[in-house]
Amino acid sequence: MEAAAPARYQARYQRLRDSDSDGEEAVELRTGPGRSPLQALLHQHHRETCARISSALVLLALVLALAFYQMTSGGSSWLGGAQAHRQDGGAGQMGAQEQPGDVPSAAHMHARGVYHHATLITSSKTCSRLGKDLLVAGGNVVDAGIAAALCLGLVHPHATGLGGVFSALLHNASLGRTVALNAVPHRGFSRRYGLPVALPGLHLLHRHFGRLAWPRLLEGPAVLAQRGVRVDRELAAALQESAGAVKASGLCSLFCDGAGELKGQGALVTQPRLAALLRAVASGDEALPRALAPDLPPAEREPFLQAMGDLGLELQSPLAMQLGDTWLHGAPAPAAGSLLAGVLEEVRAAEPRAAPEPCLRALSAAWRGYSRALGGAGAGGPSPQPARPGRAPSPVGSHLAVADSQGNVLLLSASLNSSFGSRFLAPASGIVLSDLTAPAGPGLLSWACPVVLSRGEEGTVVGLGATGGSAAPLALAQAIINQVYLGQPLQEALESPQLQLRGGGDGASQGCGPGTLSNLSSGEWAGGAPQAGPWVLQVASQGEHARAFAAPATCCHHEGY
Ligand SMILES: *[C@@H]1O[C@H](CO)[C@@H](O)[C@H](O)[C@H]1NC(C)=O
Ligand SMILES: *[C@@H]1O[C@H](CO)[C@@H](O)[C@H](O)[C@H]1NC(C)=O
Ligand SMILES: *[C@@H]1O[C@H](CO)[C@@H](O)[C@H](O)[C@H]1NC(C)=O
Repeated sequence: MEAAAPARYQARYQRLRDSDSDGEEAVELRTGPGRSPLQALLHQHHRETCARISSALVLLALVLALAFYQMTSGGSSWLGGAQAHRQDGGAGQMGAQEQPGDVPSAAHMHARGVYHHATLITSSKTCSRLGKDLLVAGGNVVDAGIAAALCLGLVHPHATGLGGVFSALLHNASLGRTVALNAVPHRGFSRRYGLPVALPGLHLLHRHFGRLAWPRLLEGPAVLAQRGVRVDRELAAALQESAGAVKASGLCSLFCDGAGELKGQGALVTQPRLAALLRAVASGDEALPRALAPDLPPAEREPFLQAMGDLGLELQSPLAMQLGDTWLHGAPAPAAGSLLAGVLEEVRAAEPRAAPEPCLRALSAAWRGYSRALGGAGAGGPSPQPARPGRAPSPVGSHLAVADSQGNVLLLSASLNSSFGSRFLAPASGIVLSDLTAPAGPGLLSWACPVVLSRGEEGTVVGLGATGGSAAPLALAQAIINQVYLGQPLQEALESPQLQLRGGGDGASQGCGPGTLSNLSSGEWAGGAPQAGPWVLQVASQGEHARAFAAPATCCHHEGY
């Protein structure tokens, strides 16, 4: 990985040199055997030549200075670039399975993940690309995020979809303000199914902040549902995990082949009913309840329609806290922002930057804060470390992050709660309903922890989201502490964190030191259970550029322009 940075620099230098060195003098500069450029220059006494050589020297000096600067201060982005390149091969293969007609993305002048205008990152290449197309077409972060969220429901129907819920944070740069939306039901209507609030929630976001027309956002996902989506690795694993339930339910009509066996990776899943529904909702909010009600048992139809007519969704103020010169905004309850805030409050109070060993100070404070926020479990013990959370069956989820170069950032964490939710595929509307039957209460969405950081310096805005069930807030706390208190650059804080908080009990992935976490997590990711996580998605609007990256890098796909 280290070797790749000089190689990149060489390639760029070579390009610059080639394009600026067509004169003889430059050839002399490069190849003059045993003769320094200065000697050559003294020999020739030719004014024009002299001028050309000195401009070549100035250029050379500039290139070297630039390379040196990149390798020292910007080192992390070069490393990240190299890593993303390596990962690109694998991602390309996955893309080929995901979506017929995918083409490899064109080369970009910047390091991977850095874009001039805007970027979007999700766990699906298809959906990241669909969102990017809307950005290019003049959509803002909200437009792109909505389309990508609908797409994720098609690509990862075990984790999210129209039948689910979500928690979102939007930082609107022109208003200079962050708003939160918890699209969760305030009451239940059935003991088996959760209320499908995702679509009304997305529509609300669009009404307030969207730029493109609402039907335009539904177009791409509708086409995708009609034409079909290839089963990717994550969905294939989820199907295997729930094999019995899927085969025994209406889900089999989507996810079984002609012989009644589960579709495997690479197989095509078409959802024509959902395509029709997406086209219908383009013309009005009533379409979804109308289409879904006939799918429900007669006794549940009336309560369902009433609950849908009285969702009470509204934009909220986010949780806010100040950490040094950084403002943090998190999602309010029932999302998990307060859990994260609990960890960070303890760290802030410990003033790690003033301590001789800031990382160790932050580590113990973070654990203290985490166990306190979880309700004092293990209070009084000398080292109250919660059990490793990733291994318990944690709620599934799907996360996306979008940022533009002006400082607008959208984070969206969606879920059906259990894998394939209630496992009920509504036959006429094609919606998979969640099993979030309880009304919204604190702790309900322990997996939903979108965060926006406004860094004081240069007006950098960072958006973070994480999978991993109840481990998500901890994974985010880790990323934030490394950035804010230990001074690591954005990407490094994610990819090789000083302070490692994830995991727990076994001590394998926590502590202070140069991180090996990203390869540790990749190993877990490759080893099966894709939802074991945690993995973290991060976008940033920084220095008039938009950036996207993730840890482990293999979890996610960014697109941008
Ligand atoms: C920010 O808010 C303004 C005013 O409501 C709106 O015009 C703009 O589209 C919003 N931008 C984003 C990215 O939400
Ligand atoms: C969510 O999923 C968990 C685990 O699958 C399950 O125990 C719980 O009943 C589900 N519903 C709610 C409302 O949390
Ligand atoms: C991380 O990668 C290094 C080098 O590639 C390897 O030696 C090490 O065993 C890996 N660590 C884990 C925990 O996978």
